[in-house]
Amino acid sequence: MSQEKTDRTTERPGAEVSDLRELGPAASGTRAPIDPRALDRLYQLAIELPVDEGAARVVQVFLDGVAPLLPQLALGVCVVDPAQGEQLVELRLPDGALAGTGHDPSRLFPGMAHEEITHLSEGLTGSTFHVGSDDTTRANVLTEPVLSRALPLLEAGIKRARALERKAQSAAALKRLQAQVIQTEKLASLGQIVAGVVHELNNPLTSIVAYADYLKRRLEARDDGADDVERARRIGEAAQRILRFSRDLVAYARPTADVPAPVQLHEVIDRALVFCEHELERSGARVERRWHADLPCVLGIGGQLAQVFVNLFTNASHAMAGRGGQLVIESAFDPDTGRVSITVDDDGAGIDPAHLDQIFEPFFTTKTEGRGTGLGLSIVRDIVTAHGGRVTATSTLDVGTTFVVELPVAAHRGSARPPRA
Ligand SMILES: Nc1ncnc2c1ncn2[C@@H]1O[C@H](COP(=O)(O)OP(=O)(O)O)[C@@H](O)[C@H]1O
Ligand SMILES: [Mg+2]
Repeated sequence: MSQEKTDRTTERPGAEVSDLRELGPAASGTRAPIDPRALDRLYQLAIELPVDEGAARVVQVFLDGVAPLLPQLALGVCVVDPAQGEQLVELRLPDGALAGTGHDPSRLFPGMAHEEITHLSEGLTGSTFHVGSDDTTRANVLTEPVLSRALPLLEAGIKRARALERKAQSAAALKRLQAQVIQTEKLASLGQIVAGVVHELNNPLTSIVAYADYLKRRLEARDDGADDVERARRIGEAAQRILRFSRDLVAYARPTADVPAPVQLHEVIDRALVFCEHELERSGARVERRWHADLPCVLGIGGQLAQVFVNLFTNASHAMAGRGGQLVIESAFDPDTGRVSITVDDDGAGIDPAHLDQIFEPFFTTKTEGRGTGLGLSIVRDIVTAHGGRVTATSTLDVGTTFVVELPVAAHRGSARPPRA
């Protein structure tokens, strides 16, 4: 019984099969005979399928080519793209058909008496081909020879279109990656140059600091030198500042050691703020630190953690540009979880809710060419995750954005021990 149902050839009325045999060339193997004109059309279709224009176009052109060969039938293709989670339904109805159509892949032609559904081959899971008709007696006989030859065309066409799409995507990703590598190389060599420049600056700066101090003391010994003492003090202070900045710059640019050590986050943040001072000043933002009085150290790589905050502060100053905003950096420690958290809050432009999910993705940027690479936050997340922590963002458009970086402390005895009764 069941075999009769699945084997379509057994359903054919014998007379009609022999009629068709007379029409076309002898069937090879199990294939049913086909009208030579239909065969020509299918060959042509195989060549014409626009595989470089995507799977959707392949389906359209396929149906446009096959529909005239089966004029009395309704045809439909439902293609599921698991990568995109999309479903494409394309239909062709016979001329003058009044049959209603649907988008339910289990019944595309609910208005017709019969609908035969064929599942497309491996690799196209969930995709189906539909033939609707009001006359079953002849349907199989007429469709089988065409479809048995046409369906492999459709399957191959869709697969080829998808393969080409994937190839184009990976080519684009490769290009982006190459650009990133070039940028990274550039930064690495810049790091070396900076180290060299700072080395050269160190000796003259140390001299300036020392002689400014010497002059200051000489001037202090004079009664009339108060103004000059102040000038000498300023020279010394300015030189100290350059010295500090250049040393920090080297520490930041130097490839970071892989060995984690206890790091005091307040120091790291202060260093990051020095780097961003220029950027923050340009945006007219004030900076407020709300430090936890006794913040424990975290175990980590100082240079990398500084990079986390440099990226967050840079983004905040971009968002606050021209608004004269306020950047509030707050530290906290939760003894229960053994985690330190740093909250970076700006009252800048905020993030569109539609973008919030994407901001940590590599290459996601809303900044115009040249200003943003879209890599900052993905680096932030990578570094924080590698430190056993996590970073989250909340934002309100036109109000501001808050990033919270949580990191485990270096040595936490844990509070899991039950309190004594
Ligand atoms: N503090 C912030 N305020 C508003 N938008 C932000 C903020 N931080 C990040 N963003 C948004 O997230 C995007 C991605 O940030 P990021 O990964 O650092 O890349 P980039 O800064 O190069 O654009 C930014 O383009 C911006 O749209
Ligand atoms: Mg950025």
